[in-house]
Amino acid sequence: MKLICDTVESCARLAAARYQRLLNEKPDAVLGLATGSTPEPLYRELIRLNKAGALSFARAATYNLDEYVGLRGDHPQSYRYFMDDRLFDHVDIKKENTHVPDGLHTTAENAADYDQAIAAAGGIDLQLLGIGPNGHIGFNEPGGPWNSRTHIADLSDSTRQANKRFFSSIDDVPTQAISMGIMTIMHARSILVLAFGPAKAQAVAAMVKGPVDPACPASILQLHPDVTVFADEEAAALV
Ligand code: F6R
Repeated sequence: MKLICDTVESCARLAAARYQRLLNEKPDAVLGLATGSTPEPLYRELIRLNKAGALSFARAATYNLDEYVGLRGDHPQSYRYFMDDRLFDHVDIKKENTHVPDGLHTTAENAADYDQAIAAAGGIDLQLLGIGPNGHIGFNEPGGPWNSRTHIADLSDSTRQANKRFFSSIDDVPTQAISMGIMTIMHARSILVLAFGPAKAQAVAAMVKGPVDPACPASILQLHPDVTVFADEEAAALV
């Protein structure tokens, strides 16, 4: 696991350069994407590069990590809405090549179909991850199994608290999400983790140098052969 510590802006630029390289080498790359506050500077940089003609998503496919159960894609807090608003509507990607788990049809069968669709697309070339203050990746919460595929996940109280800033009250925060599993994530050929701000410091330290333990789901990334972590000084403070 490689850790690069720089400013948020530099991390976003360096991470965007990885996408530029990948998409230039493999225009039909399969990208695993994340939502939340953390990827926003990266998405702004990708939009800038795309508008400047430096990278194209025209042949790329994307698979997002997760979606809240019960939210329609046009709900402003849904992750489908977030992705359209923050990235897809501003770049040359074909909407039909973008995939976000369906928050309304959350049967075990639909969850399994998501993994099958990823495999049929050739597998994920580059998976983007944020990290929760409790070490979650996707919505794989502490204590969950290592061998999970896309599944319906119960959100921990701390995750619902962390995400309530996007909703009018805690009662409006969904209690479940459909999320790629740890195994789904570990199958990606390469992984980029972004972590910014002091709230992520403990989780980043546990991910990078703690024991590989379900208490910090991100710690399993130590076992993946190609992981790069971009963190600002605050998030890397305890490493
Ligand atoms: C988002 C996701 C989550 C977030 C994590 C950090 O698709 O899967 O694991 O990456 O909760 O969220 P932010 O970036 O808002 O701090």
